Parts: sequence; structure tokens; C-alpha cells
Amino acid sequence: RAPIRVAMLGCGTVGSEVARLLTEQAGELAARAGAPVELAGIAVRRPDKHPELPAELLTDDAAALVARDDVDVVVELVGGIDPVRSWLLTALNAGKSVVTANKALLAEHSAELFEAADASGADLYFEAAVAGAIPLLRPLRESLAGDRITRVMGIVNGTTNYILSAMDATGAGYAETLDEASRLGYAEADPTADVDGYDAASKAAILASLAFHSRVTAKDVHREGIADVTASDLAAARTLGRTVKLLAICERVTADDGTESVSARVHPVMIPRSHQLAGVGGAFNAVYVEADAAGELMFYGQGAGGAPTASAVLGDLVAVARNQVHGGRGPRESAHAALPVRPMGQT
Ligand code: NDP
Ligand code: HSE
Repeated sequence: RAPIRVAMLGCGTVGSEVARLLTEQAGELAARAGAPVELAGIAVRRPDKHPELPAELLTDDAAALVARDDVDVVVELVGGIDPVRSWLLTALNAGKSVVTANKALLAEHSAELFEAADASGADLYFEAAVAGAIPLLRPLRESLAGDRITRVMGIVNGTTNYILSAMDATGAGYAETLDEASRLGYAEADPTADVDGYDAASKAAILASLAFHSRVTAKDVHREGIADVTASDLAAARTLGRTVKLLAICERVTADDGTESVSARVHPVMIPRSHQLAGVGGAFNAVYVEADAAGELMFYGQGAGGAPTASAVLGDLVAVARNQVHGGRGPRESAHAALPVRPMGQT
């Protein structure tokens, strides 16, 4: 079969690991996908800063790369909303499937992206956008599609968990632990997105939208970050047998009259040290899902970093390639009846 040709947009912390694994595991990926998966081009901001990549693949013109006739799939690992949104809409409108790790974009514009994908028959996969390596979105979109989810709750930001865990374990200061999280590739390009809770709020919006078949955006999520959590707060929590974690909590809420809505919030929570979430250290994430028939499920693993996130991206890429080889389609989101979203701050 003819190769599946991939345009990769962005080759930083995550993209460089995707490029490495695509090259090193080309044979195995081709066997699993049913066709060779090849890089058609790589768009970066500064091609001259990437001597490690084949020069003939590099460009600084992402829009032109997306539009090329020999591109079947677009893998987006740049981040942010503009100009990425227009690149991905161009791809989807042309029937080119998209794999993205971009939670900020999905939390604002998933509706128009899903609609574009539906209209052209393209796939839109984004497992890496929430909880790094952990298979979480596909279980919500597919495995649990026959159940009624009531709650999704947990640690979804690796950077803040790394900072809080280090402050708790060693009494280390906030600034030095944030620098270390950035150096390790966990933090966003602008780390205030992590510490002020915007990244977790975007993830909460995506989780709530999928779990409750709703349309929740980041603006609908009540948000508090960890900037005001001090070493002495953690020491005080310790004396009470507790620790502090930044949690995302998404719930199906039933009013007295029986009407249902969705509530989503992100804020620091003091939890008992005996709670399973208290033992989640470093940049790991852990998410509980509660559903009527399934009961309680827990998802745990590396929530940030280049290689763990690349694992999720490549899983999506193999799914897209298999769909193209066998004529299938990924899950669709636009046909769901939307549950209303509860105003921010109400639980
Ligand atoms: P980086 O900042 O490390 O990499 C961003 C890449 O995008 C760089 O290669 C940069 O080019 C390129 N880029 C920026 N602007 C443009 C442009 N206008 N045109 C073409 N290329 C451009 O980001 P990450 O790899 O950390 O993150 C990428 C995405 O993955 C984000 O959406 C992030 O939220 C998400 N994500 C990240 C995780 C992580 O642990 N890091 C985990 C899960 C998701 P250049 O190299 O020349 O500067
Ligand atoms: N900055 C994010 C985090 C990357 O720390 O969780 C993973 O989405």
C-alpha cells in the first residue's frame, strides 16, 4: 500500500520524540498501521535551529505544508490557538485527518473542529491533549460510550503536581521547582498556563465535554491555580495528616426538579495523605472516572514530558492510518445532544 504521508507541525519537546519514534520504529509502525507512515515535512519556527532534522523536510511555512497534495495527515505539536486553528481547519476541510496535543485549542474551538471533521469525513484524534501518556480520552469516547458517567476527577497537570510534590517532600521553593519542571519539558511554553490553572481548566473542559456529551469550554470552568500555595501551607497540611493537590473535578449535577447540567472546576484541594491521589508524585497524573454501570475506574501514568506524550500521539497516528487503510472512521462528537453547562463556581 502507498505510504501515509504526515505533515508534522512543531518539533519541540513532544514533536522531536514523535519524529524520533517514527524513524526508529518505522518497520513496526508500518506493520501495525497496515502501511508505511512517512514524514512528508516538518514545520518549525526556526529551521536553522534544527540541524538534527533532515534539511529537505524542514520548512517555516506550516500553512503551505498543510495544503500540499502529498500530505494525508497533519500532526500538530505547536500549541496555542492562532494560527494553529486555521491550519487545522484547512486540513480538516480538505479531508486530511488531524492528530493534535493542543488542549488550549480544543478547549475553545472543539465544536468547529469536530464539525469540519464530520463534514469532510476526516478523523480528529487528540489523546495527548489530556494526561500525557495515559489512555483516557479514548476510553471516555469509546469504551464508556454505553455507560452513564457521573464524575471525572483527578490530577491532570504534571507541572503543578511536580511542584507541589517537591515542595511537600523537601520544602523546596516554588520558583526553583518550576524551573526544574520547565527544564524537564513538562511545563507549557508559558508556564503561567500551568501554575495559574489554565492548562488544567482546558483539560477539564475537554474531559467534561467528552464524559457528559456536552460542550464545555475553558471559560466555563471555575479556575484557581497554585501560585498562592506556599511551603508553609504544605507544612501545615502535613501536621494535619494531609497534602495539597491541584484537582480537576467534572460532575453531572441533578437539580431538585430532575434537570441535569455539567459542572467543572479546578482548584487546590487539601486531601488526606492516605488518599490514593496523595501518593501521585512528580509529573504523574491520576484520574478517577465514576460511571453508573462500570463503578469507579482509575487511570494513572506519566502526564507530561516528550516521550510519554509522543506515545499518545503515535497511538492516534496508527489509529488514523488504520482507518485510512481499512476505510474506517474514528469516533464523532458532533451528533451528541448537549447537556447544559452550570454557571462557573456553582457545584
Ligand atoms: P515546544 O515549545 O517544545 O515546541 C513547539 C514547537 O512548535 C517548536 O518546534 C517550534 O519551533 C514550533 N513552532 C512554534 N511556532 C511555530 C510556527 N508559527 N510555525 C511553525 N512551527 C512553530 O512545545 P511542546 O512540544 O512542549 O508542546 C507542543 C504541544 O503539545 C502543545 O500544544 C502542548 O500543550 C502539548 N503538550 C505538551 C506536553 C509536554 O509535556 N510538553 C504534554 C501534552 C501536550 P522551533 O523549534 O523552531 O522553536
Ligand atoms: N504542561 C502540561 C502539564 C503538559 O504539565 O501537565 C501536559 O499536558
